[in-house]
This record gives sequence, C-alpha cells and structure tokens, in this order.
Amino acid sequence: MPAISFQSVSKAYPSPRGPQGSTFQALDHVSLDIEEGEFFGLLGPNGAGKTTMISILAGLTRASSGRVTVLGSDVQTDYADARRKLGVVPQELVFDPFFNVREMLRIQSGYFGVKNNDAWVDELLGGLGLTDKANANMRQLSGGMKRRVLVAQALVHKPPVIVLDEPTAGVDVELRQTLWQFVANLNKQGSTVLLTTHYLEEAEALCGRIAMLKTGRIVALDKTSDLLKAASSNVLRFKTGDALPIELAARARITGRIVQLPAHNALEIEQYLAAVRQAGVTVEDVEIRKADLEDVFLDVMGNTEEVGA
Ligand SMILES: Nc1ncnc2c1ncn2[C@@H]1O[C@H](COP(=O)(O)OP(=O)(O)O)[C@@H](O)[C@H]1O
Ligand SMILES: [Mg+2]
Repeated sequence: MPAISFQSVSKAYPSPRGPQGSTFQALDHVSLDIEEGEFFGLLGPNGAGKTTMISILAGLTRASSGRVTVLGSDVQTDYADARRKLGVVPQELVFDPFFNVREMLRIQSGYFGVKNNDAWVDELLGGLGLTDKANANMRQLSGGMKRRVLVAQALVHKPPVIVLDEPTAGVDVELRQTLWQFVANLNKQGSTVLLTTHYLEEAEALCGRIAMLKTGRIVALDKTSDLLKAASSNVLRFKTGDALPIELAARARITGRIVQLPAHNALEIEQYLAAVRQAGVTVEDVEIRKADLEDVFLDVMGNTEEVGA
C-alpha cells in the first residue's frame, strides 16, 4: 500500500481574471504514488501546484476530481483517519500568539486525542533546539523559531507520513541543518517524508526520488540518481564581460558574469570553446563540472515534453 497516492487529481480554482465562472487549472490529472519509507521530493517553480497538492492531501482543499489516499485512507471520505496518519508542516506560518510553545504542543496533541506524550514532546523540543523556548510565547519567537514550532506541532502525534512544504524557505543555515538531521532520522526509523523545496541541493542530498511539477503537471518522475544520469553529463562554466555569440547565449545559463553551458560530451565542450575564441570573447576561470540537480531542473522546466501525465 502506498504511503501517499494521488490518482488522476485535478484542481480548478475560480479564475481571478477572465469572465464570471471561468476557472484556472492548478492541477491537471496528477498521478503519483509514494511508497512507505521513501524520502520523496516534489519540486517545481512558484505556482506549479505543489502547495495545492499538499492542501488536498491535508484535506484543506478539495480536489475537483480524482482521489487521494494516505496509507489507504481516502482524504475526503476517511478524513479523520487520513489526517491522523499525516504530519503537515505548512508553507505559511500560522499560529496563535497567545500560547507558549509547550501549550501549543499540548493543544495539538489534544486535537489528535493523544495523551501522556510529554516524553515525546520533550524529545521534539530537544531535537529541534527548542528546549529553552518551551515556555516562551509564540509572539516572542523569531521566524526561524516559529518554523521549528510548526515542525514540532506537525509531529506531536507521531504521524507515519510527514509532509513539509518549503520548510526551509528563508531560514538560516543552522535551522536547516537541525531540521534535516531530525527529519532524516525519522525517515531512517521508517517515516515516509514528502518534501517540497526551492533548494535543489537539499533535494539532491536528501531525496531518493523526485517528481518535478510544471503548471499542474508532472514533467519528470524518477530516482534522483537516474535523473542526474539522464541529464547532460557536464557543465562548462566560465566568466566573461563580453557578449556571447547568439547560438551560445541561447543555450547558456547566464548569471551576471558567470556563463554555464550544459554539455553532453567532450566534443561539445571543445565546440563551445572554439565558438567563444572565434567570437573574440575573453573568458576567465574556465571549469568543467558534473551536472547537478539544478541543471536537470532547468533542463526539464525549459522543455515542454511531459511524462506520466
Ligand atoms: N485559493 C486559490 N484561489 C485561486 N488560485 C489559487 C489558489 N491557491 C493557489 N492558486 C493558484 O494555483 C496555482 C498553484 O499554486 P500553488 O499550489 O500555491 O503553487 P506552488 O506551491 O507550487 O508555488 C498558482 O497559479 C496559484 O496562483
Ligand atoms: Mg507553495
């Protein structure tokens, strides 16, 4: 039984522009099974539909069509069971400013009917570096600390399936490391993890499998290692202050003075360098590196072909 199953899920929102009654298709027949024990990454640019998928999974939004289950429980017809099996860390920071951290976690435990879990709450506080904030009011905490409380809150009922929606957006390096250590450990002990993130190096390091979402459709779905293998194997990187010849500029990723060109083989690299020389472009700091997940991502997102729709 999959931990999470999306079966041909579509979601139409009322269109903010356009004529009365028109809709906007945020998800278009998304099918995806995540197996128990996976550390799964859901990637995609802003507006791709990641949060919509998670909202449907958490029962906060209804799918327009299709079906979603959590360990066999349907998120609509079996809402309470499905919800109990899930720990969701939302993208937006929402909390009640009047309670302290420990009270928040007690209330959340009560919501799931969990009693006598003080030992687990202490473990959560410790693992997330919150022990000395246990009695602090939510409104006194920094953004990063609030984020930690949200994570603790999601895990207070020991859910077997953990969902994190951009948990590290705008948080410092220290919290990212604390968080990943903690979540990776839960995954080792058997929890299934579904993660959305903008930090592709995090996804590359943590996720065994990855789906890439673009305008509501899955455009890539594979083991992380296979996604990396299938990509252009190398990237030629150099710095220049000059304008590139058009055919190179069209293929390059340019960030300020840094130019990066995906290459499939040594010949392609030679051709790039020859073209640069011929155009009289001065280059510095030339290097060739292996393609990483960001290269794969940009490749996939620039390409309109779809798989597994
Ligand atoms: N409540 C809503 N009403 C109308 N449109 C929405 C709503 N929520 C999200 N959308 C739209 O659906 C698309 C997907 O949004 P979202 O799921 O938040 O994407 P992501 O999390 O990948 O950035 C976006 O175009 C967004 O503007
Ligand atoms: Mg989102």
